[in-house]
Amino acid sequence: MASLEKHEKTDAVAIPVFEKEIQDHPAFRKAEKSLAALILKTAASEDFSAKRDQVWVFHTHQKLGTDRLLLLGLGPRAKYEPELLRMASGSAARALSKLRATSVLFDLRALPDSEASVSAVVEGILLGDYRYDRFRSARSADEETPHLRDVLLLTSEPDAAKLKPIIRLSTKIAEATNWARDLVNEPAATLTPTRLAEHAQKLAEQAGLEISVGDRERIAELKMGLFLGVAKGSVEEPRLIHLAYVPRDPAQAKKRPLALVGKAITFDSGGLSLKTTEGMLDMKSDMAGAAAVLGAMKVIALLRPPFPVHAFMGACENMPSGTAYRLGDVLVSRLGKTVEVTNTDAEGRLVLGDMLAWANEHNPSEIIDLATLTGACVVALGHYIAGAFGQDEPLIKSLLAAGASAGERFWQMPITELQRDALKSEIADLKNAGERWGAAISAALFLKEFVGDTPWVHLDIAGPSMSPKERGYFSKGATGIGVRTLVEYVRRRSPEGATSP
Ligand code: BES
Ligand code: MN
Ligand code: ZN
Repeated sequence: MASLEKHEKTDAVAIPVFEKEIQDHPAFRKAEKSLAALILKTAASEDFSAKRDQVWVFHTHQKLGTDRLLLLGLGPRAKYEPELLRMASGSAARALSKLRATSVLFDLRALPDSEASVSAVVEGILLGDYRYDRFRSARSADEETPHLRDVLLLTSEPDAAKLKPIIRLSTKIAEATNWARDLVNEPAATLTPTRLAEHAQKLAEQAGLEISVGDRERIAELKMGLFLGVAKGSVEEPRLIHLAYVPRDPAQAKKRPLALVGKAITFDSGGLSLKTTEGMLDMKSDMAGAAAVLGAMKVIALLRPPFPVHAFMGACENMPSGTAYRLGDVLVSRLGKTVEVTNTDAEGRLVLGDMLAWANEHNPSEIIDLATLTGACVVALGHYIAGAFGQDEPLIKSLLAAGASAGERFWQMPITELQRDALKSEIADLKNAGERWGAAISAALFLKEFVGDTPWVHLDIAGPSMSPKERGYFSKGATGIGVRTLVEYVRRRSPEGATSP
């Protein structure tokens, strides 16, 4: 175990291991009849066999120069993907904080592809170490679980400098994701449309992005009747947010931009079509699409890709009141299409309709929207997979690929015109809510009315925006889904990969 003893300064040593390969791990290889043999025997007797999601903690009583040894199961090597390591590292981070450990060495020597492994470990640790504890009143120091302070990585890469850029990028991505989580977890009483716009403003100042923020008057001036309709019921002022990254090179700056659109309903009560208590409970998270877009813009500003990236968000609350929009009202969109309101709880597609049309006016090469759009998508795909809808197959495919590589799961859903009838209105061009069946599809069909022929993907993140439980690098609550996929998509779209922030 000589290799471990060198690192006596850390509270713990974490070793990700493959099934049936524990004894072959470089950390144990040299050990015979020694402590290592004892450790392996104990692990086996406690049913640790390196299956996926298994975490085994062993107190070394300082016999190894570290207090704790953590073995993290990755399953069989043949089925390995970096997401398993990301999840295991997240579990390890949480276990370590419960043990009140603040420093750890991760031994990654047995893992293939140092770059992908290092990136997964760094993201997994930082995401797993996340807690939303702003509203927990201070407890005694004993009770407090500390955050990790020092993380050492031991890899088989001889040239450590080679890994620096990927460590930096992964750190930035994880931090941006945790920022998005904070925005989503913050109660709607304080994370109002105004505050959300202030966050965007601060981001723009710090990251060197262009920004414009419009108020109710400006939204009216722009004839965004759908957005205005939804915003009418709340005393909170709506905010129209337009962020833009523009490359410094004039030729690059002139290229057609990538447009990102995020649903930014800071609270969705359902409006006059009021939700039940249970249905409303998590509706502070109805701006998770906007949070993902903001988090991604933060990293994109550092990556500086060779094309412009614009972000569009219509932030407002959906509330019932004497000034709220009514059932049967007809709203006139910026695009000119009219919409009969048949359910005020189908508010996301209304605001997004105006945002997509507005995004499209900026002549984008493609539009990606992220929205906690339908309960139906949660019914269809559950809490761990988001739906991907669109009319452009290559664009959908590249988003699915970016998601897979970033460790976020998307499943392609159909947008069949067969369901187009569900949105027919007697008195207007469209109605905003169709029948129950295939409701995630009719929501996507509604959005499609506002994007024209521009290649477009709609990601319905209603399910995976919030995690129902602690799991791997997820804490209960906001997940920050979308940040990693958008960043990966932008990197893949950049000729040189745009690796280093
Ligand atoms: N924000 C909700 C969708 C949602 C549900 C997000 C559950 C996260 C978890 C959206 O505005 C909504 O209320 N959609 C309705 C549409 C219906 C009235 C056509 C829905 O899905 O029930
Ligand atoms: Mn709603
Ligand atoms: Zn909503």
